[in-house]
Amino acid sequence: MFYNIDCIEGAKKYLENASVDLIVTDPPYGIGGDLLHKHYNRNEKFVLEGYIEVPQPEYPDFSVNWIKEAERVLKPGGSIYVVSGYTNLIHILNALAQTTLKEVNHLIWKYNFGVYTKKKYISSHYHILYYVKPGAEPVFNTFSRYSDAEKNETVGGSLNYQDREDVWVINREYKPGQIKNKNELPTQLLSKIIQYSSREGDLVCDFFLGSFSTAKVAIGLNRQAGGFEKSTIAFEHQIKEMEQVVPGNLLNTLRQPPQNKYFNQGKPLCEAEKKEIIEQHKALKLKGFSKKAIIAQLGDTTGRGPWSLAKIIDQEVLETSKQ
Ligand SMILES: C[S@@+](CC[C@H](N)C(=O)[O-])C[C@H]1O[C@@H](n2cnc3c(N)ncnc32)[C@H](O)[C@@H]1O
Repeated sequence: MFYNIDCIEGAKKYLENASVDLIVTDPPYGIGGDLLHKHYNRNEKFVLEGYIEVPQPEYPDFSVNWIKEAERVLKPGGSIYVVSGYTNLIHILNALAQTTLKEVNHLIWKYNFGVYTKKKYISSHYHILYYVKPGAEPVFNTFSRYSDAEKNETVGGSLNYQDREDVWVINREYKPGQIKNKNELPTQLLSKIIQYSSREGDLVCDFFLGSFSTAKVAIGLNRQAGGFEKSTIAFEHQIKEMEQVVPGNLLNTLRQPPQNKYFNQGKPLCEAEKKEIIEQHKALKLKGFSKKAIIAQLGDTTGRGPWSLAKIIDQEVLETSKQ
């Protein structure tokens, strides 16, 4: 559900404790409307009016208050991603530090066309603070976008590794001639976060909906969506657009990674499976295979990763040597 209300008030009124799986949000940056225009859109004619800023002196308390609510409504194991410029980053970090939320990554989002400056470097990145609420295993779908075996044909290396590096180069979307919010987050960025940190059916919430970009992508990926926007102008414009969003409409735009070679990686290992691995290892050793070849073969048949297979084998060799 979406509410045209201040997010702190709205969360208190409408969201129960531990009811949200994922929060993806982009609070007002407290840097003044004019600068935001320069940041986000050169043709002001197409920028939606009604963006509500937070006065700089209020920013620290404001951050503490909404982040406390975010912590309360997240389920244990739930994740939160907060997009922040550098101007008020310190206040967001201080507010996060006053909660039980645990930092997972401090991501950098590098975008195209920063604010042009002559006498200093050009600012062309944002911070994305990825935290989780302790108490349960967080969702992190490691192989949802790239399997572990896919190689980057252009520069070499693993695509999965490269996709999970903590600097993301993602361009803003240009929508010439279309009305947009001052800071519209790109679909590619939101999709990446939602794919890694939630499952279909999960509730994804945005405390500062703006153009409802998070909600549109979440619904497009078959998640439920909710959130708050204080500006009535922005809310009324966007809520009409939301009616056009078809659940799951983005699913067929996602690349389908081939199945992870180690399809049982990370799953709990039972005694029977361990015994079977040890038996197979013994049989292959008797046939004269090297340890490396045995691990490769067992990886194919059991779907277990090389590291866990080596651990089982080494433990067995150690125990046999003691007998
Ligand atoms: C940086 S923008 C969010 C942009 C959004 N992520 C998008 O992609 O369009 C911040 C939004 O928060 C709204 N806002 C400001 N103070 C708010 C508050 N206390 N509660 C809810 N929304 C608020 C602003 O009007 C603005 O639309």
